[in-house]
Order: sequence, then C-alpha cells, then structure tokens
Amino acid sequence: MKNKIKNIGNAKVTIGTESFELPIYSGSKGAPGIDVRGLHKASGHFTFDPGFTSTCSTESQITFIDGGKGQLLYRGFPIEQLAENSSFLEVAYLLINGELPNAQQNTDFKRTITNHTMLHDQIEQFFHGYRRDSHPMAMLCGTVGALSGFYHDDAHTTEDESRNMAMHRLIAKMPTLAARAYKYSIGQPHVYPDNSLSYAGNFLNMCFSVPAEKYKISPTIENAMDKIFILHADHEQNASTSTVRLAGSSGANPYACIAAGVACLWGPSHGGANEACLNMLREIGSVDRIPEFIARAKDKNDPFRLMGFGHRVYKNFDPRSRVMQKVAHEVLDELGLKNPILDVAKELEKIALEDEYFIEKKLYPNVDFYSGIVLSALGFPTSMFTVLFALARTVGWISQWNEMLEDPSQRIGRPRQLYTGATERDYIPMDMR
Ligand code: CMC
Repeated sequence: MKNKIKNIGNAKVTIGTESFELPIYSGSKGAPGIDVRGLHKASGHFTFDPGFTSTCSTESQITFIDGGKGQLLYRGFPIEQLAENSSFLEVAYLLINGELPNAQQNTDFKRTITNHTMLHDQIEQFFHGYRRDSHPMAMLCGTVGALSGFYHDDAHTTEDESRNMAMHRLIAKMPTLAARAYKYSIGQPHVYPDNSLSYAGNFLNMCFSVPAEKYKISPTIENAMDKIFILHADHEQNASTSTVRLAGSSGANPYACIAAGVACLWGPSHGGANEACLNMLREIGSVDRIPEFIARAKDKNDPFRLMGFGHRVYKNFDPRSRVMQKVAHEVLDELGLKNPILDVAKELEKIALEDEYFIEKKLYPNVDFYSGIVLSALGFPTSMFTVLFALARTVGWISQWNEMLEDPSQRIGRPRQLYTGATERDYIPMDMR
C-alpha cells in the first residue's frame, strides 16, 4: 500500500506555557486527523481516548463510512449498488485487490476459492473435542485458529504468495468450518462442500442437506444469503477488525489473527447484536407491549437497550438496514411466512423513529435489526447468527490485515494508559497482612 495521506496544515496544542505544532492530515474523504505521534516525545503527555471515539488507528483505502449521511462505500462503491448488482466473491475480490474483477479475473478468483473449500480431515478431531452443546462461535473460534497448525507456510507474512494463500484459504474454508460447527451442534453428519454450487449455495447446502435428503436451493434464498454476506463483508476499523489488525501487527499467524477477530465479534455489542435483537423482538412478542419496552430503553436506571438500534458511527440511517429490510420482505414472501415478529419489528421501528429520546440521541435501526428476522426465516438458529457474520467479515478482516502488512508506516500496535492504581509501596510479609 502506498501512503496517500496529505499534510493540510498544523494544529497548535498549548500545554501550560508551552505550545506544540502537530501536523494535520487529510484523506480522500472524511474528517481530517491530527497526528499526535510526536506529542509524547515533545511534551511528555499522552492523549486519552478510551473506546477510540476520536482516534484514527490507521490510514486505510478499503472502506469508507459517512455516519452523518448514512453512507457506506467499499473501495468507493456504494453498498446499495454492490448489494444490488454484484456477488459476494466479486466483493471479496474488490476488497482485497482494490478494483472490481474483469470477467477473466472473476472466473480465476472463483476457481481459486473453490479449490480450497475442503478442510484437512484431521480438523474433524477438533470438532469432536467440543461438548455437543457448545456454541458454534466457540467451535469457529477454536477451529479457525487451529488452521494455523496446518498451514505453517502461510505465516510468512512478508511474502505476497503466502499472504494470498492465507486469504484464499480463509475465504474458502470459513463456510465449511461454519457449517461444520452448525452440524456438530445439532448432531448431524458433516456435509462436504460441493464445488459445483455458488459460494452462498454451497454454504446453504452444507448447513441444510442431510445424507438422507437433498436440499433444494431456492434462488431467492441463495440470493438473500449472498446479500447478507455482502452487507457484512467490511465496516472499516470496528472492534473486531481493529483486533485483527492489532494481533497481526506483531506478525502473528493469519489464522490466529482471524480467531482473535471471531472472539471479538462474539460480544452482544458487536456481532452478537442480531441474536440479542431477535430475542428481544420475541420477548416483546406483540405490538401492544412495545411502549413498555420503549419506556425501559429510556429509563436511566434500567440497563435495557433496544437491540438493533444505535451505532457508534452511523448517526443517520444505517444504509445496510435498508437493503436488509428489502431482503426480509423478499424472503418472507418467498417462504409464504406470516411472521408476527416482523409486525413487532415494523411497529417498533416506527415508534422509535418518532420518539424524542431516539431522535435526540440519533438512534436509528442498524443492520442487525432486520438481519435476525431474515436469518431465522432462512432456518438458522440464533446461535448461528454471529457465525454467519464472522464468515462474511473474514473477507474484510483479511483485506485489512493484508493492507496493514503492506503499509510502510505500520508498527506493532501498543496503546498507553493513564495509571490510577497503587503508587509504589514495599512488599508486606504474609504474617503482617
Ligand atoms: N437503546 C437505548 N438507548 C441507547 C441505545 C439503545 N440501543 N444505544 C445507545 N443509547 C443511548 C445510551 O444510553 C446513551 O445515552 P446517554 O447519553 O444518556 O448516556 C447514548 O444513547 C449514547 O450511547 P453510547 O453507548 O455512548 O453509544 P456508543 O456509540 O458507545 O454505542 C452501540 C453504540 C451500538 C454499542 C449502542 O448503540 C448499543 O448498545 N446498541 C444496541 C446494540 C446493537 O444493536 N449493536 C449493534 C451495532 S451494529 C453491528 C456492528 O456494526 O457491529
């Protein structure tokens, strides 16, 4: 990656009687950033930003979000256009390489990915080490990390060839691992990948076919699955992506870095939100109970939050939620499902969007508000929701990991702290405590 940030002036910081000039950098879009790298050396002061609400951790050319406008671009292309016109593998190629593939590149990329869909047979033994009621995310986290034991050569992160191999293997094997985790958790035999199917079709087949009965793939469902993957493919420097970058900044094995990303994604404030959102919609159950839950969300003394609402970056509509809302209707129509939960979701969205509390705090539905409904209609249990997110986000994680390793300004990530613990004191012998 060639660094492209431009110096557009200096910021003056005054600490006590001393002033310091700090360079201001701008990218091609979005807010500029003040370069504080030299601040500690010059002034002896750190910057303090827990939660990184005002900190750019890196320069990146992959994904852009304008939270105020509700805009999401992958390599410059609006998410709505990509969801409408492209496929997940095309988007994967775009995120990794920076440009959409031409017809030949597209065919070659598909063939390469398809060549790596199978797992080493010994991976099966890792699954058998898990309790049968283990969460599929636990299995995914462990088994993707375990791939590091199988592909030592891919760890030579300074070589393009090794990095490409790791990226291709991860895109190809994540669906197989995810489907295996699902099958193991419900006690069904492993279904091998079928390379004659599309990426999404193959994944659905591995999840829903059984040796006794073929799974008939509906084009609407296959298309919905592919769109869900596209919508979740990348989201700039979110918690799990930053985790992957931080793990990778030490030169760690790529499969281990992705395992770290899976672990971070698992939490309910991040990838676990759609599972939490669907559980919440089920708990609400009927439209007449919505005011009670809105009141709880507004009550400062109640820890309850409306799941699927709010976002650290989007302070306008999450553009992914619009696409997801459309997909929800397509899937429910195709399956002929009358889902009372969808009625609750629609009414909740309407009420929350008109409520002063939500307007003032700029809390809009995020992608997870509708994705849980779609995934549940496709036949996935809630425990699989975050697994599907991880499968799709793997493409973003490895693109960002690769970009970081190609960045000449890259250094190992090492934040500092404001220490508030005990000051220096002498050891107290056991009999005197
Ligand atoms: N329901 C009710 N109040 C909320 C909600 C919500 N969902 N989200 C934020 N608030 C309130 C919060 O109480 C705070 O109020 P106050 O200023 O009076 O203290 C204010 O809005 C700002 O919230 P915050 O927690 O400081 O905002 P944040 O940027 O740290 O959190 C968030 C972002 C997504 C974690 C949060 O909005 C949330 O917990 N939402 C529900 C969980 C969810 O849907 N997460 C999925 C995120 S999208 C998927 C992804 O990209 O990972």
